[in-house]
Amino acid sequence: MCGIVGYIGNRNAYDVLIQGLKRLEYRGYDSAGIALEGFDGQLRVYKAKGKVSDLEKAVEGKDVTGTLGIAHTRWATHGVPNNVNAHPHLSQSGSIAIVHNGTIENYGVLKEALIREGYTFKSETDTEVLVQLIEYVKVKNKCGLFDAVREALHQIEGAYAIAVIERDDPDTIVVARKSSPLVIGVGENETMLASDATPIVGLMDKVVYLKDDEMAVIRRDKPLQVLSLETNHPSDFDIQTLKMSVAELEKGGYETFMLKEIFEQPDRLRDCVRGRILDDGAQVVLSGVRDNRKRFLEANRVVIVACGTSWHAALIGKHIIQDMCKLPVEVEYASEFRYSGPIITDKDIVIAISQSGETADTLAAIQLAKNKGAFVYGICNVVGASIPRNTDSGTYIHVGPEIGVASTKAFTGQVTVLTLLALCAGQIRGTVDEEKVRMVGQALMQMPETVKEVLKLDGQIQQLARTFTYAHNFLYLGRGYNYPTALEGALKLKEISYIHAEGYPAAEMKHGPIALIDSEMPTVVIAPTDSLYDKIVNNVQQVKSRGGAVIAIVNKGNASMQDMADYCLEIPEVPECLTPIVASVPLQLLAYYIAKYKGRNVDQPRNLAKSVTVE
Ligand code: M6R
Repeated sequence: MCGIVGYIGNRNAYDVLIQGLKRLEYRGYDSAGIALEGFDGQLRVYKAKGKVSDLEKAVEGKDVTGTLGIAHTRWATHGVPNNVNAHPHLSQSGSIAIVHNGTIENYGVLKEALIREGYTFKSETDTEVLVQLIEYVKVKNKCGLFDAVREALHQIEGAYAIAVIERDDPDTIVVARKSSPLVIGVGENETMLASDATPIVGLMDKVVYLKDDEMAVIRRDKPLQVLSLETNHPSDFDIQTLKMSVAELEKGGYETFMLKEIFEQPDRLRDCVRGRILDDGAQVVLSGVRDNRKRFLEANRVVIVACGTSWHAALIGKHIIQDMCKLPVEVEYASEFRYSGPIITDKDIVIAISQSGETADTLAAIQLAKNKGAFVYGICNVVGASIPRNTDSGTYIHVGPEIGVASTKAFTGQVTVLTLLALCAGQIRGTVDEEKVRMVGQALMQMPETVKEVLKLDGQIQQLARTFTYAHNFLYLGRGYNYPTALEGALKLKEISYIHAEGYPAAEMKHGPIALIDSEMPTVVIAPTDSLYDKIVNNVQQVKSRGGAVIAIVNKGNASMQDMADYCLEIPEVPECLTPIVASVPLQLLAYYIAKYKGRNVDQPRNLAKSVTVE
């Protein structure tokens, strides 16, 4: 949700900032803007509604020289996407510019107070209120920019990652964060800041992850200063080495990031299990679980909190953990969790799942669980994100940066890690036998090859997608482990193609959705030959006898379904708990090609952002 970037050094700031915005565009893409150091007594601010490429067009022929600047790509919260509401925002006198990711909850009251002091506002944003407040404090207290920002932030309620520059000081950027991420890149005589590390990759390999309630002063040719927002005392900070490569942030010859991310799943799943399965599959080692053995031995219950696709992975995790660990598991939408009067004790393990590690609702759920004494375990993809830094322990899924807004490899990585967690904890608890661990462990080690096999369905799925681009509604059905797979398939289709799709437990269809079935509404049925196969056959027949078209995901060689369904996509057989990984891949491709044939922007679907940092 909004990306911010800033640069100070010897390079042309505009070039660095534009490249940074392009890498952050997955966070929001309804408008973009840039502010460059003062020239002829003015900060140069350029903005455009639309994508970063629209900003580049708007800036053509303008002066973009200079070595200091800040920039922003927006996902609108306050005010429609247009040039006026786009960041950076300037203070009344034009002397201070700000970019902001987050939301300021008390902006209304502050705005009224500033209006009474003679301030006028151009935009509808909460951010403009903050920059005006900074200027007001600076004038009133006759102080420097850093003190003014700090004092203004003390009056703010809400979440922010901000970068602020001043017309009269082309050598300083002031930054601060609370509940929104901010990373500082430290180079030789140059420094960057960004919402995540991606804009920094390739330019600098040392980073500092700013903590909540910290500010930093970035000065040209001076060491970085990090201070506590509360006390104003210097804070200790670690300089870490970035492990990401530029190649991971590029499309690598694919037409979109999403297609690349679908096709790289074999390699990414190999990375995900690397070093975690030993003894030819018989032992699973997750240090986050092993190091907290007692917690897993003594737990009474597991509660999993997550949003969107991560919530679907959580539903699959519930089955696996219950099966392997013989522990009751509840799954909650992170956004509902804290409003449902949750009963959490210190005997609970709360697992938070998030690709980005920055989802505001999931972070709030973690805080609540911690306050109630639960042991909180994070499953996250982005290294150094807020969730891994706010949980007691956890596991990275290590599938590399996911840039397409629709989650694909993160989902299969999350299910993989949940399986590893269940196996590892089950071994500790003595609730899973070695034979089962070996069977699932070996299938996980084999998973890259299995998924490669599934990806060979690409051509068949392209044809299928052409047949079904006409559809306005889709139904996805699955049972057991694959009810969440049905939910995930439906979510993929709706978010990138804008076709209405619903996922249902197959047996629930007869309690309502069956009324929707007609020749216009295709039904996708996930029907591997598992313990519930015979039951799902009945559901397929119910759809067929009402004239609906059926696309079935079945195991190789399933002749009986070939006779029933209109189209069959054959996947290799794997242990039942792993079928969601294998079955979700054709669903990703189906959604992808339908969206593509409908001419959608698959990587940046309308209204969405990759990282949902607002409530
Ligand atoms: O980063 P997170 O996993 O916490 O994000 C949760 C959801 O916002 C995310 O999964 C969303 O539903 C995706 N667009 C799904 O493709």
